Amino acid sequence: MDLKKQQPSYFHNRISVLGSVLSVAFFVIIAALFLLDFLTKEKDPFLETVTFLIAPAFLILSLLLIPGGALLERSRRRKREAIPPLPNIDLNNPLHQKWFYVTAGVVTLFLLFTAFGLYRAFEFTESNTFCGRLCHSVMEPEYTAYQRSPHTRVGCAKCHIGYGAEWYVRSKITGLYQVYSTIAKAYSRPIETPLRSLRPARETCEQCHWPQIFLGSLDQSHDYFLPDESNTEWKTRMMVHVGGGADFTARKQGIHWHVTGNNKIYYIATDKKRQTIPWVRVVAPDGKETVFVDKGSPYTAENPPKGEMRLMDCIDCHNRPSHQYKAPAEAVNQAMTHGAIDPSLPFIKREAVNALTGEYATSEDAVNKISLTLSDFYKQKYPQIWEREQAKVLKSIAAIVQVYKANFFPQMKVSWKAYPNNIGHLNSPGCFRCHSGRHQSGGGSAISNTCSSCHDIIAQGPLGRVEGDLKGLDFKHPDTGDADERQGMPCFECHTGENA
Ligand code: HEC
Ligand code: HEC
Ligand code: HEC
Ligand code: HEC
Ligand code: HEC
Ligand code: HEC
Repeated sequence: MDLKKQQPSYFHNRISVLGSVLSVAFFVIIAALFLLDFLTKEKDPFLETVTFLIAPAFLILSLLLIPGGALLERSRRRKREAIPPLPNIDLNNPLHQKWFYVTAGVVTLFLLFTAFGLYRAFEFTESNTFCGRLCHSVMEPEYTAYQRSPHTRVGCAKCHIGYGAEWYVRSKITGLYQVYSTIAKAYSRPIETPLRSLRPARETCEQCHWPQIFLGSLDQSHDYFLPDESNTEWKTRMMVHVGGGADFTARKQGIHWHVTGNNKIYYIATDKKRQTIPWVRVVAPDGKETVFVDKGSPYTAENPPKGEMRLMDCIDCHNRPSHQYKAPAEAVNQAMTHGAIDPSLPFIKREAVNALTGEYATSEDAVNKISLTLSDFYKQKYPQIWEREQAKVLKSIAAIVQVYKANFFPQMKVSWKAYPNNIGHLNSPGCFRCHSGRHQSGGGSAISNTCSSCHDIIAQGPLGRVEGDLKGLDFKHPDTGDADERQGMPCFECHTGENA
């Protein structure tokens, strides 16, 4: 049979020809972009999106035009004339053989290329670039905080996408919705937590951490500066009892007790952010159950509040392992400890905290007003310092602006207020959501509230007069005020994070 005598191929039509030309063009473009991506060190999110998502999508569309055009052509010819039978392919015919090998070769190459492309595309949708930088304005707070966290080297996907195929598919489906909501600007500001679909689970953290082996205590130092004229420096050093009590040590004490040795703690929160927890049930390894109820609430052991009963895991305490937005007082203390803000400037602690707690519409607005307020303060109240040590003042103001940029994102309404940290109890209830002293069982025992069950203070006091005792000290509140006023009051009722 002579192939040449047949009528022209269905592929001889404008759409298929256009498809072929575009396919070759996109193929060359993608190859060039791959090469460029391979050669550049500093990845550009837009270049990567074009290389791995947009250009391949166009390539596939162009390729689809080729058979699409042929199909159209076929149905057009069918209307005009009878369709000839499909040609016989005879592999003993050298011409057919040649065409067969060429086609098989091209298809294999193309499939290989597609497989690699798809792999890179999926890999890219899990990269930090895609998660953190592409939807820049939405993820800016998380990405900025992440870069300063101990988990900077841990990819977003490692925490936010669980193990296994099911999670993988789920993440891609919610991911599609997120891409949509980013484009349509349908996301909430701030992004609501606790997260429902991409929430890291206990298994996520346990890929790298194993709290069963935490024993003993962690030595922690805190440096504070009081809001007085001389910014009196105050030190507190404490041993935080992080032990969990591994089964093989037969010890059962310390903070990681909640998640080790088959202890199960269930709780019901009455608010969305899980900051109010009036009802807690403990199931001991031997099956014994104890229910603790906040005696200031209307609930009882048998009459729990409505709502989801949750099994406590790592994220109920460690809800900010990688996106921590610090409160003004805490952030300023740290910057003063490092010397970025100069502690020799009078009232700098008080003024810095006040400036940071102002309400600002945008970051630029904040930067301008913070700089202006602080320089005005020294110009007017301490003209000599302004004259003689202006460089010091300006350097400190620059550091305060940096504190703002790292912890406040007015566009997304993000700050420490939107995302309270559940570790501790200074600026939000944290551990005291359950360890309030009011949570009691029917038997009369309470979830412990004594300071030393969680940490021992081994040194405290103003710089130069720090007292120490390894057996532990009674906490001394660092101020000059009335101690009675504080008696029995939880810290977070006064310390909102915005008072200096
Ligand atoms: C060490 C684990 C970890 C890593 C790494 C991580 N996250 Fe998170 N992320 C969390 C946890 C835990 C939460 C809080 C979940 C909750 O409260 O339900 C969270 C919350 C979020 C939220 C909700 C808003 C907020 O600020 O709480 C966003 C958005 C987010 N992460 C994005 C990212 C992006 C983007 C990256 C990479 C740049 C990333 N995460 C890396 C653990 C992680
Ligand atoms: C891929 C591994 C990995 C995963 C997953 C991971 N972490 Fe980590 N985490 C690390 C490493 C590494 C460090 C130590 C960083 C350092 O010391 O510089 C760390 C440090 C920490 C610290 C100590 C922080 C500090 O201030 O010193 C805490 C707490 C922590 N991780 C909690 C978590 C929690 C909670 C999760 C789950 C949401 C988690 N991690 C998931 C690797 C991981
Ligand atoms: C009851 C609250 C709570 C729970 C639940 C909890 N942690 Fe912790 N964890 C703490 C506290 C408090 C610390 C010490 C202070 C800090 O991190 O600032 C800590 C410290 C850590 C550290 C740092 C230890 C070090 O030596 O630096 C890691 C890692 C960690 N936790 C991982 C986990 C993992 C993983 C889980 C879940 C299996 C978990 N934690 C569950 C409260 C908790
Ligand atoms: C249920 C456990 C628990 C109890 C009870 C408790 N604390 Fe704490 N406390 C913590 C944890 C956890 C932290 C945070 C440690 C860290 O920063 O990682 C903390 C932090 C602190 C800090 C440092 C605050 C900061 O962030 O700068 C002080 C001071 C303190 N506690 C004093 C007390 C005093 C005083 C009491 C008793 C009235 C008390 N705590 C009771 C768990 C507890
Ligand atoms: C959801 C409620 C809940 C939260 C939140 C919580 N705990 Fe607990 N914790 C409990 C319960 C319940 C017990 C066991 C009480 C009992 O059986 O006597 C317990 C026991 C402990 C113990 C052992 C106390 C002892 O008697 O020796 C320590 C230490 C501890 N918690 C520290 C913390 C710290 C630190 C935090 C905050 C980072 C925290 N807990 C947050 C519910 C909670
Ligand atoms: C009745 C209100 C009140 C209560 C309750 C309270 N504080 Fe304070 N705290 C203050 C005030 C006001 C200051 C500022 C110091 C001054 O005026 O001299 C301060 C200062 C501090 C400082 C030093 C300044 C800084 O940068 O943070 C620390 C640390 C502190 N408090 C810890 C605690 C802890 C821990 C608790 C709970 C055990 C607590 N406070 C309970 C009112 C309170």
